[in-house]
Amino acid sequence: MTDQPLVLGIETSCDETGVGIVRGTHLLANEVASSVQEHVRFGGVIPEIAARAHLEAFTPTLRRALDTAEVELDDVDAIAVTAGPGLAGALMVGLSAAKGLALAADKPLYGINHLVAHVAVGLLDEQTPGEGRIGTDAAPVSALPPNTGALLVSGGHTEILRVGSLTDDVQLLGATIDDAAGEAYDKVARLLGLGYPGGPKIDAAAREGDPTAFRFPRGLTMPKFEGTAAEPGKHRHNWSFSGLKTAVARAVEQFEVAGRPVPTADIAASFQGAVVDVLTKKAVRACTEHGITNLLLGGGVAANSRLRELLAQRCAAAEVDGSAITLTVPPIPLCTDNGAMVAALGAQLVAAGAEPSSLEIPADSNQPVSRISLSSAA
Ligand code: KG4
Ligand code: ZN
Repeated sequence: MTDQPLVLGIETSCDETGVGIVRGTHLLANEVASSVQEHVRFGGVIPEIAARAHLEAFTPTLRRALDTAEVELDDVDAIAVTAGPGLAGALMVGLSAAKGLALAADKPLYGINHLVAHVAVGLLDEQTPGEGRIGTDAAPVSALPPNTGALLVSGGHTEILRVGSLTDDVQLLGATIDDAAGEAYDKVARLLGLGYPGGPKIDAAAREGDPTAFRFPRGLTMPKFEGTAAEPGKHRHNWSFSGLKTAVARAVEQFEVAGRPVPTADIAASFQGAVVDVLTKKAVRACTEHGITNLLLGGGVAANSRLRELLAQRCAAAEVDGSAITLTVPPIPLCTDNGAMVAALGAQLVAAGAEPSSLEIPADSNQPVSRISLSSAA
């Protein structure tokens, strides 16, 4: 166990300041400070506020993580930090802090990809195979099972990935072309006067409503966008949520103009029905067509009850090379943005002998998923 690398991970790409510490696939600390409450009155994350909050939260969060793990900075083998994608100003706070620590303590630095880190967290061995940890007890915990994919859904991202190797083979199969799914939840919650963040509020309101009350659009599902398995259209595995948000706005407006009460629960349930239907359908189809038999769900929207339920059903019913898709959902604190996921990916890179990043690396707010660490080839 002790020959596995001890890695400190730093995450500041959005509104969570995360510092995590792992030894190989063993989680030692996962400390998170969120600035979400400071964004409530604006109904969404304000980048400047997030960046300033990271500055204030960083040192105490780092101290807590070191104390929890019972290690000192001198003990760690490497420092990993999210270099992108994310909010530029927010990323820069974590990256600058990581560079300062790497320089002061003379440790190698790994500037890593946030999206790939969401997948790496599935390797941490405190979780139950098939529930939180990807793979089975039969597979070595440090290796991903073959045919792994990930569906990442949060306020900032909606992507489906194929992951051949966490250190050198990640492919983007599809993504949203406009709003992220969580962002759509937040915008629709604002339209319905439910407050921010909207996901949990809509999830709760939807339980009281009828998901068939309104037929809201499922973006990019027309044949001209999807094509066929043999001849895929440009947007076969992509999503779009902006038309859905507009349709909800129209529905709300019609009730308001007519002076009738807005049926909040029915609209919430119908909106959620549309999001979850198109998310799961396209994700499972992308898996089927790319031979993915192990799917990891990550991001804040993984907390959604209906998404978990329908995705589990559709994965179980899928047939990929004669087997169903095994769905893995890490515990929510590991699904939302955190430093442990960054450390988990850093440990994989160290173990694989990947080249560390230079201290000159920039934050890359649009970092493509194929760039797993800033020293690896694009
Ligand atoms: O991963 P996360 O904490 O932060 C980033 O966006 O990176 O995800 C937050 C997002 C918000 O958009 C929030 O509304 C959504 O996750 N969310 C949910 C639920 N809980 C959180 N969306 C749907 N249903 C939920 N239960
Ligand atoms: Zn994230």
